[in-house]
Amino acid sequence: MKRVKSKFVCTECGYEAAGYLGKCPECNSWGTLVEEVVSDTLNNKKLSTINDEKPLLINDIPINESVRVSTNISEFDRVLGGGLVQGSLVLLAGSPGIGKSTLILQTSGQLCNKNLKVLYVSAEESATQVKLRAERLKINTDLLYIYPQTNIDSLDEQINNIKPDIVVVDSIQAVYTNNLTSSAGSVGQVRECCNYLMRLAKTKNITVVVIGHVTKEGNIAGPKVLEHIVDAVIQFEGDKYKSYRILRAIKNRFGTTSEVGIFDMRSNGLVEISNPCELFLNENHIETPGSVIIAASEGSRPLLLEIQALVGITPYPAPRRITNGVDTSRVLQILAVLEKRVGLNLSKQDVYVNVIGGMNISEPAADLGIAVAIATCLNDVTVNMHTVLIGEIGLSGEIRPVNDLEKRIYEAEKLGFTHAIVPKANNLNKSFEKIKISEVNRITDAIIKITKE
Ligand SMILES: Nc1ncnc2c1ncn2[C@@H]1O[C@H](COP(=O)(O)OP(=O)(O)OP(=O)(O)O)[C@@H](O)[C@H]1O
Ligand SMILES: [Mg+2]
Ligand SMILES: [Zn+2]
Repeated sequence: MKRVKSKFVCTECGYEAAGYLGKCPECNSWGTLVEEVVSDTLNNKKLSTINDEKPLLINDIPINESVRVSTNISEFDRVLGGGLVQGSLVLLAGSPGIGKSTLILQTSGQLCNKNLKVLYVSAEESATQVKLRAERLKINTDLLYIYPQTNIDSLDEQINNIKPDIVVVDSIQAVYTNNLTSSAGSVGQVRECCNYLMRLAKTKNITVVVIGHVTKEGNIAGPKVLEHIVDAVIQFEGDKYKSYRILRAIKNRFGTTSEVGIFDMRSNGLVEISNPCELFLNENHIETPGSVIIAASEGSRPLLLEIQALVGITPYPAPRRITNGVDTSRVLQILAVLEKRVGLNLSKQDVYVNVIGGMNISEPAADLGIAVAIATCLNDVTVNMHTVLIGEIGLSGEIRPVNDLEKRIYEAEKLGFTHAIVPKANNLNKSFEKIKISEVNRITDAIIKITKE
């Protein structure tokens, strides 16, 4: 195969060099030189792909509904915005061993059941290893091709032979192209391979799913550039020591990024969990000071979660604030409000806040729950376990309105909760059959309501 010329370009200042340099002589940055294909070969490629499109008036553009293919896995479909869009490039990112290959092999199996042809490029595992996993997942189909290959240049030929509807690349960090001299997994290689797959998706209208590893810091390994190239970034998260996994869209050109999908990892593969509250609410729960239930809203689905706080006199000069699943700075703000507006003395107390089940909550509607958990733990009172707390807390101690309040209450009612403490500012003009509603204006009102129960 003819080798294309390559060069190294500084990502900071654009300086070009023929070989790799650790330090850029122009801007003195370290490790910023990345290999690229020399631009005149690139230009030729670009020229040949220029089509005869003309500028169109926006009103004259016909609407072709993008064709979506359901994966038959409804949790995955929801995160994708209703299924895989034909001709799109999707990145499935996740930390090592979280179950990316399992999810994608299971999805491939489902797509084959719908009479679609899948070409699975296995760059990390041998065909036998994939076969063993397929056995475990009980995948049995004549339409799934496993292609153990790390050189992506040979893909064109295989695609012409097999004519797949979907191509899976496991993983983008393990494949390389001969056009560049740097090794697989380097920024240049990952970007070049991803660009190639993007062209493949757009020109041949093939849906491409690539797997990418996430580093310890939570970044998609190597290049952030990947996120810009692809149409959607779906992140697979979870605790290695627990069996459930959370799927969420970080970027999606064809749908919202607020949906999450929840799975349980079992020996026969990933099982969808359509009622996640069972998972996050501790069944053998005993009422303890500092434990409360909140109704968070993740995408189109409310989630009832348990928050636990532990407050105790600190043996250290500076008290510690340690959180798990909620933003630490949010907790610091709530602590400040509790001190100033409620009059709690927390300056000599260590505070730990934990979301049960390992979920991460980012929305402010959890504030009231966090505040009440801390206050009740400090005062050693328990909150009735059939009470759910919803509300954002403002700096002056007021309870601010939240979105989707009705939906959250309905979900709590469905799960057998009998009391909801909600923001008065929502002006909820509604009564519910089985759940009593207490509307509160200020954080102090909520704490009084709780302790009177
Ligand atoms: N026989 C088995 N029974 C139950 N669970 C298994 C079995 N084999 C593997 N697993 C689960 O599958 C996980 C690995 O899944 P998978 O290989 O899909 O992950 P991955 O994200 O592709 O990993 P990698 O980063 O190595 O490619 C393991 O962590 C384990 O939880
Ligand atoms: Mg894998
Ligand atoms: Zn430079």
